[in-house]
Amino acid sequence: MVKAVIFDLDGVIVDTAEWHYFAWKDLANSIGIDFSREFNEELKGISRMGSLEKILEHGGVAGKYSDEEKIELATVKNTNYVQLLTQMKPDDILPGIREFLEQLKDNNIKIGLASASKNAPAILDYLKLTDYFETVINPDEVAKGKPAPDIFLRAAENLSVPPSECIGIEDATAGIQAIKEAGMFAVGVGTKEVMVEAGADLVLESTTELDLKSIKREFLQKE
Ligand code: G6P
Ligand code: MG
Repeated sequence: MVKAVIFDLDGVIVDTAEWHYFAWKDLANSIGIDFSREFNEELKGISRMGSLEKILEHGGVAGKYSDEEKIELATVKNTNYVQLLTQMKPDDILPGIREFLEQLKDNNIKIGLASASKNAPAILDYLKLTDYFETVINPDEVAKGKPAPDIFLRAAENLSVPPSECIGIEDATAGIQAIKEAGMFAVGVGTKEVMVEAGADLVLESTTELDLKSIKREFLQKE
């Protein structure tokens, strides 16, 4: 039986990829690294420091910066990103998400958030969605980031629901892998081939297709 739904944030509840893109692009360009939208795709679901490492590697300067300098660079990016976030409003919630959260609440399904973003609590506040979530995992509390299952497992534990009765929703391949590693049913939002390849059990083209009844139907078929 489906007892809990655990959401990713960026790309599922709100489309922050574009905001991360502007903030990372500014930072990358300031140290002479080109930064494209295509490369930005590779950073979905990847932690702040993990993203910075990838950018430095991409620019061929992986060994050039000390740990202290890297923390400084990540802080510059985050300050810029946090400034962009101040413009975020409930209107930015992706279509269908609020309705789906209401469906879950009406059906006594527990709701959790498993985002790699340390800005997640602030984002939920800007979107006025905080009250729906029974647990919001701080990514610093788990040993390994996505694609490791840790963050989804911690959310299930906090909700007191076994992973086999949890649904995870993700837009990134690293996230789908994390959900499957956690032993949960994975709903992928995005391109069919990409999501199937990552291991998604159900693929939706858009968040408008999120519907508890149809997810339950697919879940029962898999059981
Ligand atoms: C999400 C996004 C990533 C981002 C990460 C950390 O997983 O998809 O692009 O790097 O969160 O976000 P933060 O807000 O902590 O820098
Ligand atoms: Mg995401």
